[in-house]
Order: sequence, then C-alpha cells, then structure tokens
Amino acid sequence: MCGIVGYVGHSAGRVNTGHNALDVVLEGLRRLEYRGYDSAGIAVVADGTISSRKKSGKLSNLIAELEASPLPDSLTGIGHTRWATHGGPTDLNAHPHLADEGKLAVIHNGIIENFAELKLELVRKGVDFKSETDTEVAAALLGDIYRNQVHGSSKGDLTKAMQLACQRLEGAFTLLAIHADQPDVVVAARRNSPLVVGLGDGENFLGSDVSGFIDYTRRAVELGQDQIVTITADTVEITDFYGAPAEGKEYHVDWDPASAEKGGFPSFMEKEIHDQPDAVLQTLLGRSDVNGRLTLDELRVDPELLKHVDKIIVLACGTSAYAGQVAKYAIEHWCRIPTEVELSHEFRYRDPIVDENTLIVSISQSGETMDTLMAVRYAKEQGAKTVSICNTNGSTIPRESDAVLYTHAGPEIAVASTKAFLAQITAAYLLGLYLAQLRGNKFQGEIKDILADLNKIPAKIQRILDNEAQIKELGQSMADAKSVLFLGRHVGFPVAMEGALKLKELAYIHAEGFAAGELKHGPIALIEEGQPVFVVVPSPRGRDSLHAKVVSNIQEVRARGAKTIVIAEEGDEAVKAYAEHVFYIPETPTLLAPLLSTVPLQIFALALASAKGYDVDQPRNLAKSVTVE
Ligand code: F6R
Repeated sequence: MCGIVGYVGHSAGRVNTGHNALDVVLEGLRRLEYRGYDSAGIAVVADGTISSRKKSGKLSNLIAELEASPLPDSLTGIGHTRWATHGGPTDLNAHPHLADEGKLAVIHNGIIENFAELKLELVRKGVDFKSETDTEVAAALLGDIYRNQVHGSSKGDLTKAMQLACQRLEGAFTLLAIHADQPDVVVAARRNSPLVVGLGDGENFLGSDVSGFIDYTRRAVELGQDQIVTITADTVEITDFYGAPAEGKEYHVDWDPASAEKGGFPSFMEKEIHDQPDAVLQTLLGRSDVNGRLTLDELRVDPELLKHVDKIIVLACGTSAYAGQVAKYAIEHWCRIPTEVELSHEFRYRDPIVDENTLIVSISQSGETMDTLMAVRYAKEQGAKTVSICNTNGSTIPRESDAVLYTHAGPEIAVASTKAFLAQITAAYLLGLYLAQLRGNKFQGEIKDILADLNKIPAKIQRILDNEAQIKELGQSMADAKSVLFLGRHVGFPVAMEGALKLKELAYIHAEGFAAGELKHGPIALIEEGQPVFVVVPSPRGRDSLHAKVVSNIQEVRARGAKTIVIAEEGDEAVKAYAEHVFYIPETPTLLAPLLSTVPLQIFALALASAKGYDVDQPRNLAKSVTVE
C-alpha cells in the first residue's frame, strides 16, 4: 500500500546526470501507482525552500496540477502515491505533509499505531494539524525534534532526528523526509513496511520496490527491519534506530523496465494474462536435472528437518491463498503430509498449534503482505520452519523466512493477480514434488512423469490464449450481469473461488465460488431463472467419479433455471447437453488442471469489466501490496 520514491542527484562538482528530481520521482510514481491511487504528491528542495504539490485521485490529477503550477528544478525530491488508511482520499490528507514551518516534508506508508497520544502531546505544544492523517503526526514529531536540535549556530541533523522520532513511533512505517536546511539529503526509515535503495552513479534512489527506480539503475540494496538510511548523491549510510551502523545487502535486479510495460496490450492485466505461459516456464526452469531430479538449491532448509515435518500449514491471503488451496491437494496426495491452508490474518490471532515439526509455507506475490508477514513471524517464534513462495526478490517475507522458492513471473503491475497465481501454483507443485522425493513418497520415475506434464503446461496455456475470442465475447455480452456463481470440486473449488474473486474486484458485481458438492446444503437457493453459473469440470479421465458428480451438479442448477457456462477438458462431450456455453481446455492430469482452467475465468472477468468501462489495472478501493493489517 502506498508507493514511495526518493531521489538525490549529483552533488556539486560532479558531471551533471541531467536528472531533475521531479522527472525521476514522477516516473517512479507512475510505476508504483499500482500500490495505491487515492492521491499523489511530491516535494522538492530548491533554493533553500521546500516546494510541494499534492492532489487527490490518480497520478494524472497531480500531473495536471504540476502543469498548471510547475515545481522548480531540483536535485532532491520525494513522492508518494496513496492508499488511504487514516483520513479520506482528499487533497489535504494527501502526502507530503509539512512541518517545521514548512521546511520539512514527510511521506509515509503504513500505520502509526500510537498517533493519537503523540498528536495530543504535539497539540499541547501548539501544533496545528491540518489533515486527519497519522502521517502528519509523524511529520510534526520529526519537525519538533529537528527544531530542538538547532541552537544558535548549531544546525539540525535530519538523520539523528529521524532516529529519535522512530524510537517513539509504534506500528508499521516507511518514512521519507527532506529538509530545506539539508538540501542534498533524503532520510528514510523502515519498520514492517517495504523500502529499497537504488544505487546510481552520482545519484541515489529510494523506492517502495525496485520499480520506483528501475529506469535508472538495476543495483538495489535491501534494508533490514528497523533501519534508517540517509542518501546523498554519492553516499548511502544505514543505521539502526539508535544510530549503530548497519549493512545493507546489495543485489542485482534481473528484469528490465520493458517487462514492466504493457507490451502493446491495452492493460497491464491483459498483458500479464498473456505472460502466463512464460511465467510458468520461468518458474520451472532450472529446478530439475535431466533425470527429473528436483534440485531446489535455494531451499536452504536442512533436508533432515524436512524429512521430519509432520504438518504443513500454508499461509496466504486472497488469490495467493487460493494458490495454497490448490497446493494442498497436490502436497497431500504426493507427500502424505497433512496440509492446512489458512488465511494469514486468521492464523495469527487464534492460538494455532505449531511446533518445530511444522513446516510453514507462505505464499505472497509481493512478499510484503503485512498479514502474512506477521503470521510467518509468529510461526517462527513457535519454532516452525518457514519457506516462502514469493515473486519479489529481496522483499520482507522471503528475507525473514528460513528459505525461499522464488516464482519467476516477472513484475506483476495490475492490481488483480493473474500470472503470479499460476506461478505460485507451479512453485508449490515443485515444493510438493521435492518433499515427495526427499521423503521417498514417490519413485523418481513418477516425479519425472509429473515434471514432464508440468513442462507441457506453458504450451497448453498458450493454446487457451490463442482461442480467447470466444470467452472474451461472452464476457462482453454479460456486462449487465448482476451476479455470477462459480462451482468446482477438488482442485476446481479454489479455481471457482479465484474466478469469483477476479469478477468481484474487476467488475464490482456479486460473484461467489462454491464447492459444487456444497450447493445442495444451501447455496442452491440462490439459483433462479437466468442466473449465470460457471462450472469447472474435472477431467473425465480422472479418478473417483469426480467428473460424474460435477455433471450431476450442472444438471441440478440447470433444472432450476441457471444459465450454465462450463469449462471442460477437450473431448468431454458429456457436458455439452447441459451447457449453454462450453470452453474447452487441453487435456492434463487433474491435479495440474488449475494452471489451465483458471485462464478462461481471468479472461472472462477482464472482458466483462472492460465492457463496463472500468479500469482493470487499478480497480476501486484496492492496492497491490497490502502492507497494513
Ligand atoms: C487478488 C489479489 C489479492 C492478493 C492478496 C495477497 O487479485 O491480488 O487477493 O493475492 O492481497 O497478496 P500477496 O500475494 O502479495 O501476498
């Protein structure tokens, strides 16, 4: 939530890099806008003063404001794009917030939990607050501390002031500050919220993630928890909240700016749906040898410990939790380890049973989801081993986990997750197969066969994409639908819930996913004449008469007037008689089918929402990276 950018350009005497802080910060905000788009703002230091502009609504509103009222050229600036927590999405509540008589500008991501008591204290000192935000309280506190450092000729020290302020702040925060008296410095702090440093040549950057500065450098530095970083054009100094020097870990960003562009598609979401063959392929690549032996080298948990795991708990939220639910079917089947999937925020606050034989598998695209981070921390405290499945290099959850299995989906910009979901399922399958290999639950030949099936998935997704016109047309024709239901069994159940979530978040209509077998226990009462119902049908070649059961469920809803739309495997003629529309997906083993059956549901939601004229990349009320609890 909230995107943050900071920049300091060349210092006196160096070759001019030609970058104006305003341009760098605006470009960073454009790339980070997916993190929140309730308002945007920017502040620069020029000619010994702070100048700032801020505007509610999307970044385009701020850009219009800047055209009407330009900011001066500058080498030092900060910018913010907001997902509102404290105070509505108004101009006044937008960041930056100013303090110290307008000489200090602060932006913030997170929630200051003790803001009320600090505010009271500052009001008593005479501070007049203009907004409803907790950020303005942090700015006023920092300003107060800074001003108290200034005596006669002795100047203030923004880094020191930030350290002292952070010692008083509770909650989650990334804070960036600039001060008119220190024009070539940006000071930042982080606790439980993301912040990365970008290393340039004669210029340095700060961003909520690397996309904030990817146009300028691929050299990034991870910051640890409770750290403060001070950047100038030539230096990056990191300390803890008490001033003790600390080290950051440098890494190379291996995706290029072009992969974070739309690539000719009308939206990031459509592009990312089309990236899916590659997202799965890249996630599989280099993870097994020619004999089909899994070589998950990055999984640094002692194999002996993994052999003794007697329970797996998958922790995630939203779409990532549905990936976890798919994984449960595969992991239990392949490894015979009891596997629970729990929403991170529910797990964390219910006194769960976790010990050193529990393996926690967290799944997070961003690696910053606060609910999941807190749940992982809690599980670690209880002695569990933690593995993170994550798409964002260097983010907090993998950093705090014992091991990480990265998904290689590339940057996911659209707020609604698509390619990360398929990559998460793929990575979870790899983890399941690795555990089965390690614990001897499967013969090597069986693992090799499953891997061979997995390797065929990218081409099969491509075939679905090549035939997307039919599902797009259906989506467009249903723009007036008020409610759509989704049914599935076995791995088709989480797929149904994911299909419903995509429709809710993109098209703002009522959509629900049910286990098809649960229908008769209540939800069937929702069915009336013309109610659209998607049914995800398992392969007729699968086990346990699953297919026949789902076909019966289709008949049950159809008998009550539902308009049935069926996702079935090629060659499944049996479903035709009961379906108004059938979308065929290529043959694949039942456990792997979610990697295919999800795709038409994504395309349907995209087409329906686009037909309604909605912004599919930035749906209302949402943000990509949910860094508050
Ligand atoms: C839905 C969606 C969200 C995320 C959830 C978890 O399309 O994107 O439900 O899946 O907020 O986010 P991560 O995976 O970053 O932890």
